[in-house]
Amino acid sequence: MGTLTYMPTEHVPVLAAELIRFSEPGRGDTVVDATFGAGGHARLFAERIGPEGTLICIDRDPAAAERYAEFAAEVSCETRFVGERFDEAIAALLEEGVRADLVYFDFGVSSMQIDAWERGFSYSFDAPLDMRMDPRSELDAATILNEWPERRLAEVIRGYGDERRARAIAREIVARRPLERTSDLVEAVRAGLPPAARFGRGNPAKRTFQAIRIAVNDELEALDAALPAAWSLLADGGRLAAISFHSHEDRRVKRFVAELARGCVCPPEFPVCRCGREPQAELLTRGGVAPSAGEAADNPRSSSAHLRVALKLGSAPKGDA
Ligand SMILES: C[S@@+](CC[C@H](N)C(=O)[O-])C[C@H]1O[C@@H](n2cnc3c(N)ncnc32)[C@H](O)[C@@H]1O
Repeated sequence: MGTLTYMPTEHVPVLAAELIRFSEPGRGDTVVDATFGAGGHARLFAERIGPEGTLICIDRDPAAAERYAEFAAEVSCETRFVGERFDEAIAALLEEGVRADLVYFDFGVSSMQIDAWERGFSYSFDAPLDMRMDPRSELDAATILNEWPERRLAEVIRGYGDERRARAIAREIVARRPLERTSDLVEAVRAGLPPAARFGRGNPAKRTFQAIRIAVNDELEALDAALPAAWSLLADGGRLAAISFHSHEDRRVKRFVAELARGCVCPPEFPVCRCGREPQAELLTRGGVAPSAGEAADNPRSSSAHLRVALKLGSAPKGDA
């Protein structure tokens, strides 16, 4: 029998051309990359803002900090790294008095994290049940799977993974405790599914892995806290951009920017506006932007991606004479 060799993939930045097009970075801009990862997007922005620009890079994963060290040596703009959760990092930048022309997010995990098989993000490799983006945080996947009550597990798997069979999967997880390896979780998922669903398209454990990863990293709470902080960090005429990979992320971004873009909220029977509410944002990507068929085929990780960009309205929007 031949040996299977696993080839790690370089992280390919998703929707890169679209992100640049809608964010319109200019020379000298101050840009905040809230999810540095392998620095793919950051490189593109560094080129555009030039030596007069500033790029602040955030990532909670110390592996991204190592990538950042190489990146910083290669780019000409002023740059620094903040190794914290993005909501906390942005709050600290606000305290410092930073004002940004652009804050962008590219949520989720990078190929770099998935390829580090021992970190347990992937259902394709057998590894300890970890899934922490920040190895300094206490909560890992093993703790959730072995200690959380069955009902709470089912809520997580259903709520964050949209898994219809969440209750049956949670029951299997609890019956198999202690789970130690990602392969134990894959088997528990398979056992919780009816036979027909075990061998469909794609790995049936994908939704459960996504759900547990979101819970381990408190991803949606961080996102909810980061969006308003990022908006406050923007100068008038600045832009907020976000690339989401599943409906839970995209729904939050969409609601957040839609609320900012709302003007008058007076009842329709009022002949004139009495609320005086003015829109604070213009939506530059109405329904959001999806990858082209070519990008989705070349980089399957991009296929569920969705970009939204909003412009912060103020006295002098960027681009106005
Ligand atoms: C999809 S990758 C970003 C890839 C990057 N745009 C590139 O082109 O290389 C997402 C990165 O964001 C980081 N991340 C996710 N959630 C975070 C959070 N709440 N706070 C800080 N970093 C986070 C992850 O550790 C990961 O490195």
